Amino acid sequence: MIYPVIMAGGSGSRLWPLSRKLYPKQFLPLHGDSTMLQATITRLAGVKTHSPVVISNEEHRFIVAEQLHQLGDLGTIILEPDGRNTAPAVALAALTLQQTVGDEALMLVLAADHVIQDADAFHRVIEQATPLAQAGELVTFGIVPTGPETGYGYIRSGAAQGDAYKVGEFVEKPDLATAQSYVDSGDYYWNSGMFMFTAGQYLAELGKHQPAILAACQASMADVSHDLDFVRVNQEAFLSCPDDSIDYAVMEKTDRAVVIPLDAGWSDVGSWSALWEVNDKDDAGNVTRGDVMVHQSNNTYVNAEEKLVAVVGLDNIIVVETKDAVLVADKNKVQDVKSIVNELKAQE
Ligand code: GDD
Ligand code: MG
Repeated sequence: MIYPVIMAGGSGSRLWPLSRKLYPKQFLPLHGDSTMLQATITRLAGVKTHSPVVISNEEHRFIVAEQLHQLGDLGTIILEPDGRNTAPAVALAALTLQQTVGDEALMLVLAADHVIQDADAFHRVIEQATPLAQAGELVTFGIVPTGPETGYGYIRSGAAQGDAYKVGEFVEKPDLATAQSYVDSGDYYWNSGMFMFTAGQYLAELGKHQPAILAACQASMADVSHDLDFVRVNQEAFLSCPDDSIDYAVMEKTDRAVVIPLDAGWSDVGSWSALWEVNDKDDAGNVTRGDVMVHQSNNTYVNAEEKLVAVVGLDNIIVVETKDAVLVADKNKVQDVKSIVNELKAQE
């Protein structure tokens, strides 16, 4: 049986002003009625899994616990005193499972903030990945790219291996020209940011390529405290851990990676325009949430939290109204929302 391991410690700054440091994207109901974290768990219904292991930040612990309680199945919540990115986060889960289950514990590592429209197709690739992961491969799920996005990892597929392909090359977040050349070549997938492997194999590869991360995580796990629903690692040891993502630390370097193509309506909802894409629209292409009126406008995304918001005669815009901030943006410029967040941070 599979252990879902959910990375839920990110900040989601491109979805400001809804996504906030204290209440980031993965805890919001941005697609459908449940939150993104909850949907990550419920979309596994039908797959044989144990309760999830969720790794998150100390400051979000009550949000995580409440959202898991609402699903009736708490699982394990591991808390980082402060994030050190995904390579250490996954290592904490792998070490926990290694201790309690053994090296063979099968981990399905998921981001807490993705949309997958076709759960059945997703379940099929999990089934295909299972024997490969059990045989010691690090399985990734590849998306056919639709453009030269620089926020993704790129995977060149090599020789076929069962339902998968050997990873020829893994390049995390290339620059625009490189990304464009990858897309033009037709030989690359986007890395979906989900992985399947055994706890023992991940830790072995991490130890080989980033021994300092493994050592810091081991030290932080040698002194764990349990409190209510939470597992806390040793703060001092964990804070000394280098900051790195699983993509740079392990996936770019390992020679045990394979990729399985995934065609399941995947989106990492990295921006307001991506959120517009995945949501149901009215006849004029508008997505509205909350108390909203839209007149003679096309292809807008309008989200009202507190007030009535009316939009008249505007196309391709994003309006997001919240208690203390309002965003009005051109739908084609939404990557720049991050600049506003950075400016706000600088003013703090
Ligand atoms: N627990 C924990 N601690 N979780 C974290 C941390 C951390 O320090 N940092 C990020 N996360 C969580 C996020 O909440 C998200 O669910 C997941 O880990 C991935 O982190 P992102 O920060 O969103 O990564 P990314 O989007 O830049 O890149 C990854 O995903 C892309 C696809 O969406 C990479 O795997 C890319 O290669 C991939 O293409
Ligand atoms: Mg992401």
